[in-house]
This record gives sequence, C-alpha cells and structure tokens, in this order.
Amino acid sequence: MTTHKPVKKAVFPVAGLGTRFLPATKAIPKEMLAVVDRPLIQYAVDEAREAGIEQMIFVTGRGKTAIVEHFDIAFELEATMSARGKGMEAIDCARATPGDVITVRQQVPLGLGHAIWCARAVVGDEPFAIFLPDELMVAHRGGTGCMKQMIEAYDQLGGNLISVLEVPREDVSSYGVIAPGRQISEALTEVTGLVEKPLASKAPSNKIISGRYILQPEVMRVLEDQEKGAGGEIQLTDAMARMIGSQPFHAATFAGRRFDCGSKLGFVEATLALALERADMGAEVRAMAERLLAQAG
Ligand code: G1P
Repeated sequence: MTTHKPVKKAVFPVAGLGTRFLPATKAIPKEMLAVVDRPLIQYAVDEAREAGIEQMIFVTGRGKTAIVEHFDIAFELEATMSARGKGMEAIDCARATPGDVITVRQQVPLGLGHAIWCARAVVGDEPFAIFLPDELMVAHRGGTGCMKQMIEAYDQLGGNLISVLEVPREDVSSYGVIAPGRQISEALTEVTGLVEKPLASKAPSNKIISGRYILQPEVMRVLEDQEKGAGGEIQLTDAMARMIGSQPFHAATFAGRRFDCGSKLGFVEATLALALERADMGAEVRAMAERLLAQAG
C-alpha cells in the first residue's frame, strides 16, 4: 500500500543546558532526570522503538555523556546482578542494539534548527523522525504511542508530519504554532503555515507543535541557510515553514496524553500520574497522596 520510504532513523536533540532544573541538572543531563524510575530519554527511545525506528541519533554537547552511557552495556552492573541471581529486566530496555546509537555534537547552542542540521550526515537521504524528550507522550491504556500513530498516518500521506495539540490561547507564545488548513480526518489536518513563538494576539491558531516530527531530508538543505528567528535562534519551525507548498505538510493530534516535562510543574504532574497508574505501587501512591492532601488542607 505504501510507496513512502520507511522511517528508520530518529534524531533526539539533547544538547540543551536544562537551566530550568538547576541545581539538579548541574552535573546530570536533564534528559536523565527520572519520571518514577525511567529517565526521560528512555521514554522517548521506547516510543521510537515501538514505532519501528532502529537508529537513534543523539545530538549531544559537553556534559551529556551520561545519555550515551545509559544505552550502553553496563558490564560491571550486569556481572554483579547475575552473580547475585538477579534478573536484568530493569535494565534490558536501556540496552541498544550494537551500532544503533549514534551521537553527533552540537558545539554551539544556536537553536533547535541548528541541532537537527548537525545530524545531516547521519540522516542522509531518508525521511526521519525527531523527538524532543521534554515532551513526554503517554499512550492511553492499551493504545499506541504518539510516533506509532504518526507513522500510520505517514504511511498514507507521506511528506512531512508534525504532532500538535491544543493549548489555551494565552500559552501559545512559548511554542511553534500551526495555521491549519483542510481537515482530513478527526486527528489529521493540513498545515498551511507555521510560526515560532508568536504573540498570542497574532497566533494563527491555538494548535502547538508538541515535539514529534516526521520530516523529509530536504529540510537539511533548507536549514543550511536558515536565518536566526525567534529568540535569536535558528528555528526548525522557520525551516519547515519554507517547505510548505513544495511538499505535503500535515499535523496529527495524538490520541493519548502529553506532559510538558520541560517545566517543573509538568514534571511533577507526570511523576504523580505515572506513579498512580503503576501496578506495583499505584494503590500505595494513591493512599500516600490522599494522606498528604489531607495534611496540607
Ligand atoms: C521547541 C520548538 C517549538 C515546539 C516546542 C515543544 O521549542 O521550537 O516549536 O512547540 O519545542 O516543546 P522550545 O521548547 O525549545 O523553546
């Protein structure tokens, strides 16, 4: 049915300094902060694997090696655990297939567009996915993850596809915002324009880009001469906007939940929500939360 090249590579821009979480992120990458017992980056990589993506390309920077270590084999740990008769289930998910984790460095923090461009040699001439790990996308119980849903839509549509969600109007200026065109189905719409961090009064809609992308490799050529935009940074959104018209461009609304783990409040919310749902601790977390709320009230 599909004639589109399959998406096998994903880029994870993880060079950011994480200043919002200081001092926690002084010596540890923010992507290694754990929601319950998994670092944020693990959730994103799991979502990629579920969608059939094989190669994980991390765009890292100084002080970010813990992310790469995380997906390596921890020989001492495994030897000790097995000598103690312990199972490896807890760390199995972190082990990458040899050769499937690739890192490139972003030497200067010039913006998201520049970070993606740093991966151009590894991406080559294939469509690729992008994951912003700050955005934690959680499938509904029994449902599929955000990227898997996007890949299913991509199989039909081809071109470029970004995930979107609706936020209150007053919040749009922190994000990339789409101008929606023709509605294709309940979850899919055409994109006729894109603007990064617009004033709320000038935003074309309240649908924001929520950190998942499937893009054609031509975006790398567009990024090459992309000028600085919002915040003085080279913006991916601006480069994507220049592709509208020459390639199909659609937006998909994820049937699932999103937590903004780039903010402290979102991080706490994600931790509580996921802990409450865990079979191994949910009931105790609920009792604990109720007790704490009663004390605080
Ligand atoms: C980036 C993107 C923006 C997107 C957002 C999602 O912004 O540039 O388009 O809506 O991620 O979290 P940043 O959070 O890096 O400012």
